[in-house]
Amino acid sequence: MITVALAKGRLARDATELLEKCGLELSELKTETRKLVLFDGSGKYRFVFVKPSDVPTYVERGTADFGVVGKDTLLEADKDIYELIDLKFGVCRLCVCGYPDSLERAGGILRVGTKYPHVTKEYFGTRGKTVDIIKLSGSVELAPVMGLSDVIVDIVESGKTLEANGLEVLEEVCKCSARVVVNRVSLKTKKELVPLFEKIRANV
Ligand code: PRP
Repeated sequence: MITVALAKGRLARDATELLEKCGLELSELKTETRKLVLFDGSGKYRFVFVKPSDVPTYVERGTADFGVVGKDTLLEADKDIYELIDLKFGVCRLCVCGYPDSLERAGGILRVGTKYPHVTKEYFGTRGKTVDIIKLSGSVELAPVMGLSDVIVDIVESGKTLEANGLEVLEEVCKCSARVVVNRVSLKTKKELVPLFEKIRANV
């Protein structure tokens, strides 16, 4: 049995499509259900649907053999897992965003609203900039609009959320996309993973 952790939402839908191209029978994954554990047609693969930030945890602990998760989540989680394949979907950018003059206008300590406190600390730390990190869980763009923070570090995909709130990209932290991440022990012991990963690579 191979257990796969998928980040709920769009990444899970794209990952399901990709795994079907690799020959897995995944009709159960496409039915409307509240079940959190689902199986492929052969019963050899078990899928668990979790919050994106929990995918690295399931994989690191070996509860899942591998998972599909965004690079942004992976950077923030900083877990001991193999990042094996860039799937090239779920493409977005992690950026410092704000008003055009937010960085200049801020005082000595820049207030940064973000769902990514570790990535933010690292990014500004390597630039010698002292920051006050304000951890948020969502609607991050609201922080500079309401004066909670000077800037934000957040995901930009279409740019529409920024535009609708009068904000813009000030600096790019990194480019992100979906990745296959694998448990270290599973990669060594579950040999059946090797041909699957080869098929995934061929279908990216
Ligand atoms: C993400 C991200 C931005 C938005 C960017 O939020 O945090 O807010 O998408 O997408 P865009 O550039 O295409 O507008 P998400 O939709 O995950 O919701 P959240 O605000 O609750 O985190």
